Amino acid sequence: MDRSVIDHRSPEFAKLTREILPKLRAVFGTQDGAVIVYPASGTGAWEAALVNVLEPGDRVLSFNSGYFSAGFADAARNLGYAVDEVPLRWGQAIPPAEVEQRLRDDSRSDPYRAVLVVHNETSTGVLSDVAAIRQAVDAAGHNALLIVDAVSSLASVPFCFDKWRVDVGLAGSQKGLMLPPGLGILCAGSRAIEAGDTGGSPRNFFDWRPILRDNAAGFFPYTPATQMLFGLRTALQMLVDEEGLEAVFARHHRLASGVRAAVEAWGLSALCEDPACSSETLTAVVVPKDHDSGNVVDHARDRYGLSLGVGLGHLKDRTFRIGHVGSLNELEVLGTLAVIEMTLEELDIRVAVGAGTEACQRSFLASAAQLVESSSSRDLASAAT
Ligand SMILES: Cc1ncc(COP(=O)(O)O)c(C=O)c1O
Repeated sequence: MDRSVIDHRSPEFAKLTREILPKLRAVFGTQDGAVIVYPASGTGAWEAALVNVLEPGDRVLSFNSGYFSAGFADAARNLGYAVDEVPLRWGQAIPPAEVEQRLRDDSRSDPYRAVLVVHNETSTGVLSDVAAIRQAVDAAGHNALLIVDAVSSLASVPFCFDKWRVDVGLAGSQKGLMLPPGLGILCAGSRAIEAGDTGGSPRNFFDWRPILRDNAAGFFPYTPATQMLFGLRTALQMLVDEEGLEAVFARHHRLASGVRAAVEAWGLSALCEDPACSSETLTAVVVPKDHDSGNVVDHARDRYGLSLGVGLGHLKDRTFRIGHVGSLNELEVLGTLAVIEMTLEELDIRVAVGAGTEACQRSFLASAAQLVESSSSRDLASAAT
């Protein structure tokens, strides 16, 4: 990104766009989905997804399972759509059975036009099962579009746009794509594109039609965020060509498992109620009742220069969040955990200093041993053939 800006109407720029879009499609898990990149953030991507496929007054179904899913619903309401927001516990994944029931019960003459789903709720550290949600929509025989916020899951855990028949997926640049904030990224399927072509809401900047038209030749209908696109090209090379997406997903799983082992060894709880739904990109840790999690975040930052996530919404004083997303390795995770242990000790939140780092080391060692074992059995199998 630290390079000279090029003319965004030049052949060099068109080449850049043409390199980026196919790799973004790979990250979304789609062959034919249309990828659209905006100079925006995840919030802009929410708006882009909504205004392109919904008409004013359209009804949408959403699930309030945390700060960001509540924000997505607010965005839809603010834009003039009628939102039915199902309240869930913050710490709970979206129950597919609830999705199915809500859609089965939807007998109005103006049925839900879309279901809004946050794949990885960044405020709670809970990953919802989009495949199961898709099945629930199908089981209800409902025609609603499936709009999935993958802001904190894309490029970190599998996202199967085609297989899950997601209609619109959306993300930002600043998490799994390892870039600074500044890009809002969408993937739209054929039903969504058709909805945008034949309807949608009044829109200008977020209208994806001129972008798709100009992207075909490698250009944008406005001045794009050129430096961010250079960064995106590099990030995609690292993720898709160098490390490989499967290895990226495995690394996130390995690092997340280590963090979860540490939290357990501290005797603290993760906010995520069902370990099977634990986020691979962050862990929200609940502090004991007589403590304020804000102090943990402040102390770690001021004393050690470690950036932890604050508790969001009504979780403000109850949780701090450990991010384990993007360009990250064992060394950084262990350093983070060691500093958290010192922070907790200094704030009189009694955990055994060293217990978490040790549990994490053991988890990493076990994954490394597993890796060696599976690669040697692969070698044996290929030698036998
Ligand atoms: C799941 C999720 N959705 C939406 C957003 C909003 O994105 P942004 O802050 O980039 O506008 C965030 C931000 O962290 C998020 O985690």
